[in-house]
Amino acid sequence: MRHFLSANDVSDLDQLIQTALQYKANPQKDHQLGKGKRLGLIFLNPSLRTRISTQLAAENLGMSAMVFNVGSEGWQWEFEDGVVMSGQTVEHIKDAAPVLGQYFDLLAFRTFPTLTDKVKDYGEYAMQQLVKYSGLPVLSLESATLHPLQSLADLITIKETKSIQKKPKVVLTWAPHIKAIPQCVANSFAQWINKWNQATFVITHPLGYELDEQFTIGASIEYDQQKALEGADYVYVKNWSAYYDYGKVLCNDASWMMNKKKWNNTNEAKIMHCLPVRRNVELSDEMLDFEYSLVTQQAGNRVWAAQAVLAEMLKSM
Ligand code: CP
Repeated sequence: MRHFLSANDVSDLDQLIQTALQYKANPQKDHQLGKGKRLGLIFLNPSLRTRISTQLAAENLGMSAMVFNVGSEGWQWEFEDGVVMSGQTVEHIKDAAPVLGQYFDLLAFRTFPTLTDKVKDYGEYAMQQLVKYSGLPVLSLESATLHPLQSLADLITIKETKSIQKKPKVVLTWAPHIKAIPQCVANSFAQWINKWNQATFVITHPLGYELDEQFTIGASIEYDQQKALEGADYVYVKNWSAYYDYGKVLCNDASWMMNKKKWNNTNEAKIMHCLPVRRNVELSDEMLDFEYSLVTQQAGNRVWAAQAVLAEMLKSM
């Protein structure tokens, strides 16, 4: 695996999940694999889980990892080729990326979408510019449209908690939010769970919040949330802004918030969310503090997801 930008970069998903679970059981088992290799973690946007879990994963593999918060500490980057840089941007990716290529052996990059320029966002313009100009293997820490390390951690969490007798029913439900949120986590979860093909997958959302079909194809779409939740084994709660009416908040219907009353209609579903979460907006306190909540376990599994992916990338170098 040279780059890790989406589920499409993974040739054997079951194997990758197994590797992650092996690292969870024995974090130090490959502590020499990354010896002498330097990982640069480049953030245009804030992070708690992604930043720390990826650093820990690199450390477990014997790599050195350095974080650079471009968004808050660095010169403001320009991504557009051929632009006259007479505005706010100070450093072009064409200049910054080759410099990073001199300092590091692998780059990891987080960038969010504009939510105004769909063509640029869905073309993964910023991520592709880094790949093009750095010349290094690149690991996505969340891009304009996808969050593959999160999705891998989500599948690891389902794998280790599901019953072995039964294909689980997994429901991805839209939740209210106070502002426009990227489609990344929802797109990515759909892409990964479809590729995994070991669950019955249902997506529920209000009309107008349909996701890009390139990721959801194969999933059942159910506009009636209550119906979708019937018999669910896992409920993944997440807000996203509209894909077709790009980046818009079409409704903010509080009745879509997952709560205990709705949970009673499920098959004692486990509750998932990638975090950070707005309590009592997206998910009620009673759901987040519930014994069936997996949110902390999911975040913990981010370390093993990152470690499995970094190990694959190191083996390809
Ligand atoms: N879930 C997730 O990516 O969290 P952070 O934004 O804190 O990294």
